[in-house]
Amino acid sequence: MTRRPPIDADLTIDPDIGRASTLPAKVYSDETFYRTILDRVFLRSWQFVGDSSLVRTPTQVHPFTWLEGSLDQPLLLTRDLSDRVHCLSNVCTHRGTTLIEHGGHERTITCRYHGRRFDLDGTCRSMPEFKDVVGFPSEADHLPRVPLGTFPHTASIDLPGPTTGLGRFLFASLRPAMGLGELVGEMERRVGWMPFDEFTFDQARSRDYLVRANWALYCDNYLEGFHIPFVHASLNAALDYGSYTTELYRYSNLQLGVASGGEDVFNLPSRSPDFGRNIAAYYYWLFPNTMFNFYPWGLSVNVVRPVAVNLTKVSFLTYVWDSSRLDRGAGAGLDRVEREDEAVVESVHRGTRSLLYERGRYSPTREQGVHHFHRLLVEAISRPG
Ligand code: FES
Ligand SMILES: [Fe+2]
Repeated sequence: MTRRPPIDADLTIDPDIGRASTLPAKVYSDETFYRTILDRVFLRSWQFVGDSSLVRTPTQVHPFTWLEGSLDQPLLLTRDLSDRVHCLSNVCTHRGTTLIEHGGHERTITCRYHGRRFDLDGTCRSMPEFKDVVGFPSEADHLPRVPLGTFPHTASIDLPGPTTGLGRFLFASLRPAMGLGELVGEMERRVGWMPFDEFTFDQARSRDYLVRANWALYCDNYLEGFHIPFVHASLNAALDYGSYTTELYRYSNLQLGVASGGEDVFNLPSRSPDFGRNIAAYYYWLFPNTMFNFYPWGLSVNVVRPVAVNLTKVSFLTYVWDSSRLDRGAGAGLDRVEREDEAVVESVHRGTRSLLYERGRYSPTREQGVHHFHRLLVEAISRPG
């Protein structure tokens, strides 16, 4: 006997939240669904890479693994001698060696296996013992370029190509299903007034968490403030639960945290669309697995990476804008809030494996973000090819 019918489960999520049922439990626990989601959702997604200081000066190179733990794609950021930034495959086009192992400065990229050389824009320049090879070098010998985009200033550069004026935060995609602007455009319109270039990465306040649950359950939990009064006593005291709202966009959504008092809120400039309001936090979710949480002290980026069907690595990356405002309001005690979330998400993961649980319903007033995510996930899973 199988636990549930095999893969062709009913994945329909009614567009009317009042009629809809949540994702079938097997989406979170079935190995086949896990692999399908990696292929249809993550391979075509935009992933946060880091900030522009990774390649601050010409000749700087930064190797990284795109979606480490699942798709594990070796990529390379470079800033060439003309000051242009590129995202390239970090795999030699001869026999497939990984090229650059450590960040630093290089004038050319030289493969340590048989000496093939590339310019910092990926152009294949030379190769020992290849003068008799017909048609060498050809297009296929250059390092493939990977679409790179930035927030802010994404609009003009979310297509593959070199990037000169660089926004602060970098995203890369192997096969983007949408332009980066469709993910971050609304966020830029809303909070683009913040001086992101003044934000400083704080390693000591950044860390990774391993969560024994499916990645999508972690996102489900993030996408509703419904649980705050039940799970997070400290956060609940800082927020006005009645004023907490969710705004939905095409591939992103915003949960707006309004302060319970007049302290620990943003000093909003008059050009902010929220000028005059007591905003304690902007919680932006970018499909499928990235969160940009803005607080009066700065930004906490959360990246939710699948490692296995039942294991997720969540990276909290902290960028401080105004250190005098740290540890106050909705942006205080994020480690405690994270541990509270982890415990509840791991409990849900165990629950979704029950033979007696299939799917649930949504609160139309409190779970719009979860419903939005599930609709996007089903849309992406069902997308042909
Ligand atoms: S694998 Fe790089 S030169 Fe042979
Ligand atoms: Fe939470």
